[in-house]
Amino acid sequence: MFQLEIKNTLKEIDFLKYNNKIADFKKWCEKERKSSTGMLGWLNYASLLSEYDINNIKSVAKYLKNRFDTLVVVGVGGSYLGTRAIIEAIKGECCGECNVIYLGNSMSARYLSQVLEYLKNRKFAVVVVSKSGKTLEPALAFRFLKDLLIKKMGNKFSEAIVAITDENSGALRSEVNELGYKSFTIPHNVGGRYSVFTSVGLLPFAVCDIDIDKFLAGVRCAEKELNVFNENNPCFRYAIARYEFSKVGKNVELFASYEPQLRFFLEWIKQLFGESEGKEKKGVLPISALYTTDLHSFGQFVQDGTPCLFETILKIQSCETDVIIPKDENNFDGLNKLSGLGINHVNDIMIDSVVKAHTQGGVSNIILSIEKLDEFNLGYLIYFFMMSCTFSCFLQGVNPFNQPGVEVYKKNALKLLKLD
Ligand code: PA5
Repeated sequence: MFQLEIKNTLKEIDFLKYNNKIADFKKWCEKERKSSTGMLGWLNYASLLSEYDINNIKSVAKYLKNRFDTLVVVGVGGSYLGTRAIIEAIKGECCGECNVIYLGNSMSARYLSQVLEYLKNRKFAVVVVSKSGKTLEPALAFRFLKDLLIKKMGNKFSEAIVAITDENSGALRSEVNELGYKSFTIPHNVGGRYSVFTSVGLLPFAVCDIDIDKFLAGVRCAEKELNVFNENNPCFRYAIARYEFSKVGKNVELFASYEPQLRFFLEWIKQLFGESEGKEKKGVLPISALYTTDLHSFGQFVQDGTPCLFETILKIQSCETDVIIPKDENNFDGLNKLSGLGINHVNDIMIDSVVKAHTQGGVSNIILSIEKLDEFNLGYLIYFFMMSCTFSCFLQGVNPFNQPGVEVYKKNALKLLKLD
């Protein structure tokens, strides 16, 4: 099913050497899980989620689907990227019966006004996600949406709102308590970028007809298979490889996929690693590319430019859709030899050719393959990355769950806006 392959162009990696580190990591996880301030709630969240909680999410999703034609997901960073990553990976940009729009992830007046204009003629509901309940981008977007809902629905506006936030603290929780919105809780021990398999992701997925049972089954399967503390665990092998690469100056990890529907999945990974690992002047810079498109953009640099990077390829082993190349009587393009073959076959050849070229160019490649692009495999992959990222941070000696650097600009903005 899930496969990890490392095509290393550098010195051989001694994985066994890391066994002590893995044993220390196990102890650290046990301590973190028991601690009241620990943030490893995601580690076995899917297994602990009750049937009752899952049915509650499904029933709110049904309510939203039956009553509204558009869902606005309001949130930023970890409160938004995982949701969009999975919805677009499975459904593409067209999300089934209920149209989904994302707001509160930028400060663009142009985009905001376009969306508000569009929503005037839609029967829309809002799922507002903010763990702290005080992040400026979603808070402002939510304010505009409420204003529009009040104009459209009068005092029934709260029927169109679902809030997902901390159980006790934050402005959004106070508003829920005051105005009685439907709401869900982000557990105190699960941080934003580790929250996609809580209601943060599950509710919008269910609204988009994504099978949340299959998604959770993938997560649970990963929980079982990837909580094994030895050097054969692919999470640890992957983390060790990227750590070893970084030690010899490969400080950029280029995450690439050949599937455009994974664009936001790549964004989610970038945030996961960037915000978790990039601190105390340490970490590997995550960047992303969609191939083959970007081979015609900065592929030249990857092959031949400053040797600062390694690549991590997300590969999908089989695709249920294919398009057969037709025969052309005139054969002006000279491609008749390919007629009768599927585009998937050509894509596979492209992947092999690029991996060969880039490794020949000295760029190490890590290839992560999933069987197909579905709920189960994506649930598994998400867990794989969370576990790998947490261990990567442990190797670097940084806290995977905070983001002190992000707070700096937030504080500046609040000061300049006289909100502090
Ligand atoms: O991963 C994280 O913790 C962050 O990216 C947060 O999700 C992001 O800053 C939004 O925070 P909040 O959910 O509190 O609005």
